[in-house]
Amino acid sequence: MRRPFIAGNWKMNLDMASAVALAKGVAREAEKVEEVDLAVCPPSVYLAAVAQAISGSQVQVGAQNMYHQPKGAFTGEISAAMLVDVGCRYVILGHSERRHILGETDELVNKKVHAALAAGLAPIVCVGETLEEREAGNTLDVIRRQFDGSLAGLSAQQLAGVVIAYEPVWAIGTGKVATPEQAEEVHLDLRKIIQDRYNRRTAEVVRIQYGGSVTPDNARVLLACPNIDGALVGGASLQVESFMGIVAAAG
Ligand code: 13P
Repeated sequence: MRRPFIAGNWKMNLDMASAVALAKGVAREAEKVEEVDLAVCPPSVYLAAVAQAISGSQVQVGAQNMYHQPKGAFTGEISAAMLVDVGCRYVILGHSERRHILGETDELVNKKVHAALAAGLAPIVCVGETLEEREAGNTLDVIRRQFDGSLAGLSAQQLAGVVIAYEPVWAIGTGKVATPEQAEEVHLDLRKIIQDRYNRRTAEVVRIQYGGSVTPDNARVLLACPNIDGALVGGASLQVESFMGIVAAAG
C-alpha cells in the first residue's frame, strides 16, 4: 500500500565529479530495482549536474534545504521554484542539523513546507528527539510538538504528499541505530497523531522514513516494521554499494 522510499542525504560531502559519479552509479543499479522509490539529495551546488546526469532514470533528486520566500533580497538562499527548475522532486526540511546547528524552528520549517508544496515539491520533513529528551521520557511529546509545529495548516490532501522522516538526533552519524522497537514505537505514534489530527485514510498513506545510522546490515529489521516505510540515509548513502544494499533490504 505504501511504496517504500529510500533517500540518500549526502549532506556537505563529495565534489562535483564524485557527486555525478555516485548519482550515475545509483541510477545504473536502480534499473534492477522494482517497487521502491529512490532519491539522492546532493549539496545544492551539485543539484543541476546530478539531475541532468540521471534524468530519465527512476532515481529522483532532492535538495537538503530551501527558503520559503519566492524571490527577492535573501542573499544566499534558494527558492522552491529554483529547486524545481533544476530538476528536484523532493526537499528535506527541518533536518536536525539545520534545527540544532543553524537554529531552524518549527515555525520556519512550517513556512518552508507550505512553500515547497505550493511549488510542487514533496517535502521530507524531519522530526526527532535528542538523547536528553529521550532519557527524560519526553520522546513522544517532542515528536508531537514538532509534528504540530512543522506541519501546521496543511490539508489532508497536502499532508498525503509529505514524507515524514523520524530521525532520533542521538542516532545520526553515531553508529548508534535505534532498535526496531524504539523506531516502530515512534512511527506508530506518528501515524496515530495523523489519524487524530486528520483521518484514518491519511494516516495510512503518509510515508514515514527512519533515519539515523542506517546500514545494509541493520536496514532489513528496521524496514520490516509495519510502520517504517523507508529510510533517510546519511553516511551509507555516499557509496553505491552500501546505499543499494539498503535499497535491497526495502524490496
Ligand atoms: P547517518 O545515516 O549518517 O546517521 O545520517 C542520518 C541522517 O541524518 C540522514 O538525514
